[in-house]
Amino acid sequence: MLTNARLNWDDQGMPHSADHGDIYYSQADALGESTHVFLNGNELPTRFAGLAEVSTRPLMRQRFTVGELGFGAGLNFLNTCRLWRDTAPAGAMLHYLACELHPFAQGELQRLLQQFTELAEFSGPLLAACPDHTAGVHQLALRFDHHTVMLTLLYGDAHAMLTALMGETPDFRVDAWFLDGFSPKVNPDLWQLPLLQVLRRCSHGNTTLSTYSVSTTLRSALKAAGFTFEKRRGFIGKRHMLTARLVGAPPIAPAASRTVCIIGGGLAGCSTAHALAESGWQVTLLEKADNLASAGSGNLQAVLHCKPGTAHSADNDFNLHAYLHASRHYDSLQPRGLPWHRCGMLHVGTDSEQQRRFTRIHQSGRFNEAILQPMDARAASALAGVELTHPCLYFPLSGWLSPAALCRFYTDHPGITVHSGATAEKLQRTATLWEVSCTNGNSLQADAVILCNAGDLFDFPQCRHLPLICNRGQVDVYTSSAASSVRTILCGQGYLTPASDGQQSLGGSYYVEGTSNEHNRLQHLQLLARMDSGLANELGTKSPVHQRVGQRCQTPDRMPLVGALDATLPGLYLNVAHGSNGLARTPITAALLASLLSNTPPPLPATLRALLEPARFRR
Ligand SMILES: Cc1cc2nc3c(=O)[nH]c(=O)nc-3n(C[C@H](O)[C@H](O)[C@H](O)COP(=O)(O)OP(=O)(O)OC[C@H]3O[C@@H](n4cnc5c(N)ncnc54)[C@H](O)[C@@H]3O)c2cc1C
Ligand SMILES: C[S@@+](CC[C@H](N)C(=O)[O-])C[C@H]1O[C@@H](n2cnc3c(N)ncnc32)[C@H](O)[C@@H]1O
Repeated sequence: MLTNARLNWDDQGMPHSADHGDIYYSQADALGESTHVFLNGNELPTRFAGLAEVSTRPLMRQRFTVGELGFGAGLNFLNTCRLWRDTAPAGAMLHYLACELHPFAQGELQRLLQQFTELAEFSGPLLAACPDHTAGVHQLALRFDHHTVMLTLLYGDAHAMLTALMGETPDFRVDAWFLDGFSPKVNPDLWQLPLLQVLRRCSHGNTTLSTYSVSTTLRSALKAAGFTFEKRRGFIGKRHMLTARLVGAPPIAPAASRTVCIIGGGLAGCSTAHALAESGWQVTLLEKADNLASAGSGNLQAVLHCKPGTAHSADNDFNLHAYLHASRHYDSLQPRGLPWHRCGMLHVGTDSEQQRRFTRIHQSGRFNEAILQPMDARAASALAGVELTHPCLYFPLSGWLSPAALCRFYTDHPGITVHSGATAEKLQRTATLWEVSCTNGNSLQADAVILCNAGDLFDFPQCRHLPLICNRGQVDVYTSSAASSVRTILCGQGYLTPASDGQQSLGGSYYVEGTSNEHNRLQHLQLLARMDSGLANELGTKSPVHQRVGQRCQTPDRMPLVGALDATLPGLYLNVAHGSNGLARTPITAALLASLLSNTPPPLPATLRALLEPARFRR
């Protein structure tokens, strides 16, 4: 976790950094300075307006990427969003990549932003989605009018975070940099040559940079990093500011027309289709069943689980960031009609060993209160609306939704064509395209193919070397009654959900192969009895109205397979093996694929991308 900014507020209601002893904004006119130095300094009004109007098909979506050192309270970001809304063509996409070492605490962010009423339309969505202060990469898609802005926040030191995001060779490029650290005298880290060299690595020949500072250190570092700079008139009270350009870097090729075929219409396929369509790809989705979400994703209710680990390991980092990303993602889709129920989850400490684990998790310092809170049985009972006798860990960001509703929501997009009842059986690479043949005799061509067909991956010879393990899973659905109604998800080794249209789901996690549905039903009740015997007795008197059995697919290292299959097969990607965490993992893996295919800032650093790469399992 990072430390929040330590602030002193002056009489004008403006924040000062207690650590750096510097002001955040011009005392005269904060927004005026932002416009003069950063927007006009990078000529954004003309560059945004000059992005080609996107015709509906088949042009790739136009995009622009801004990078900022020192996100602060996001005033530059919000001012850029306003300019984007006013000048960029409809359908174009703004990516905004910003580094921040000491994020504002939520209350202080609100305190500052409410003063800028002219930005209220933009600050509302930012305040609603802004991550807590967990270190790492946080990507949020914010919608204003018909515009989507993709904000990638790097929480940590700018040099370390940008280097971690880029890996060995950055796939994305920034079009304009805002250098907005505190004064170089008090915040030297943000102005030095090694950091400018990092900026250079993800810049191109038309990249510009601007800053309010004209310090000698900065000018010589810019020169050494290969930028040419120019002094311009500064904002009120400052004689000069700097703008800069890169010398000799090649410009990037304009965006091209792009098509992708996705195979499999479960959570992985539909989320990937949505993320790519949002990035301007023309998506064709093939699903062999008659309906979407009818195999592994066919449950009535799926739970957004959090599996916290106490150690700082790559696996734990991925799981945590996937969970945070997913909760934010579903929150952001809810106002657009997604029936997402963020009711929270109570992990019940059914024995002393489990309770000691809760203590270790809480004391690990990895999770703040926005993510998890220890709770005694009384407070937990009040939240759940049933009598619990054990202490719990409460996860306020968890909830449940119907995977079928989510898949319908994802694919209801003008950029996506769904063919159900279409089984892909053969993949062939032509000179530049992939040809996908279906068992019904149809075939189609696309620039890229993404396999999201879970346990059926082995149907394609290209994938037979991958170690995919599929295990049976079962959920029993009961009619709910006053006695069995819970307000939050209850979770232990099994789980019970709140009711949906008078029905609730009881599931478990461990199954012995070959056991009957009835054996598993009794086991689910036993697991529930450990959490709450009253609830188990109540459901035990009923027969389930429905029992759902499906396969959960995973790899031996329990990480999904996401990314390019193999360097020798360009354009062939995977998004499979989500185990029992499809709801938590698919939003971030879909966003990752959209960034990999579109060369935009990814939602995960290189080490975590490597953890998911299918190429970790060699042929
Ligand atoms: C009983 C049970 C309970 C679960 N509970 C939860 C939960 O509460 N929370 C949670 O997060 N996760 C849960 N999971 C796990 C979760 O459901 C999975 O992680 C998720 O559904 C995986 O989605 P997917 O898209 O990868 O696979 P699937 O949903 O299986 O989708 C793969 C799709 O590919 C299609 N397909 C296959 N081959 C082809 C082909 N050749 N051509 C065209 N289409 C093809 C299939 O028909 C299928 O629709 C549960 C799983 C089970 C089985
Ligand atoms: C002047 S403020 C930025 C104001 C911001 N651009 C805005 O529009 O609200 C400078 C910011 O740089 C951040 N910062 C300082 N050192 C940093 C570092 N090494 N890495 C990332 N951010 C840093 C500070 O925490 C502070 O929020």
